[in-house]
Amino acid sequence: MAKNTEYINSMKEWDLEDIVDHVKSTHHAYLKANYPIIVRLLEKVLEKNPKKYPEIKEIHEIFVEFTDDMSRHLVKEEEILFPYFQKLGKYLNDPKSYEPAFFGSLKKPVKVMEDEHDDEHDIIEKIKQLSNNYTPPADADPTHKMLYFKLKEFQEDLDLHHTIENDILFAKAEEAEKKLKV
Ligand SMILES: [Fe+2]
Ligand SMILES: [Fe+2]
Repeated sequence: MAKNTEYINSMKEWDLEDIVDHVKSTHHAYLKANYPIIVRLLEKVLEKNPKKYPEIKEIHEIFVEFTDDMSRHLVKEEEILFPYFQKLGKYLNDPKSYEPAFFGSLKKPVKVMEDEHDDEHDIIEKIKQLSNNYTPPADADPTHKMLYFKLKEFQEDLDLHHTIENDILFAKAEEAEKKLKV
C-alpha cells in the first residue's frame, strides 16, 4: 500500500499529457491484455468441473458482462475525454488558443465516469466475495489457483487505475478547465 501511495503521489506533479499516456499504456493496456486471459481461465475451470463450483459459473457470467461494460467505458475515455485532457495540457501553455469541448464542461462527463468506476468497483467486490477473497478451495487445481491469482491482481490494478483517474487525472483536468474558462 505504501508503494501505491508513493506511485500515486509521484504523478501529482506530472502534466496532463503524461498522465493520459501513462494511464493508457499501463492500466488500459493491462485490462485489455488480461480480460481474455481471465475469461479463458474461467472457461477452463468450468470445462474441467462443469458442476462442482457454482461460484465459478456465477463469476464467469458477471465477469463477461463486466468486461463488455468496461470496454465501453474505455472507449469513452480514450476517444472523448483523454484527447480533450491532452488539449487542455496544450491550452495551458497558450491560454488564448483555448476552445471549449463539444460537450460543454467536464462536470457531467467526469461524474458519469466516476459513477461507472463505482459500479465497476461494486462488481469486482461481488467477485471477491464469490471467490472467498480469492482463496482457492483446498482441492483446487493449478488453473483454478491461477484464476484466483489473476482476479486478485485484476482488482488491485483496477483500484489503482480508479484512484489515479478520480483523484489525479480528472481533478487536474477540471482544474485546468476552470483556469482556462475564466
Ligand atoms: Fe481508465
Ligand atoms: Fe475510468
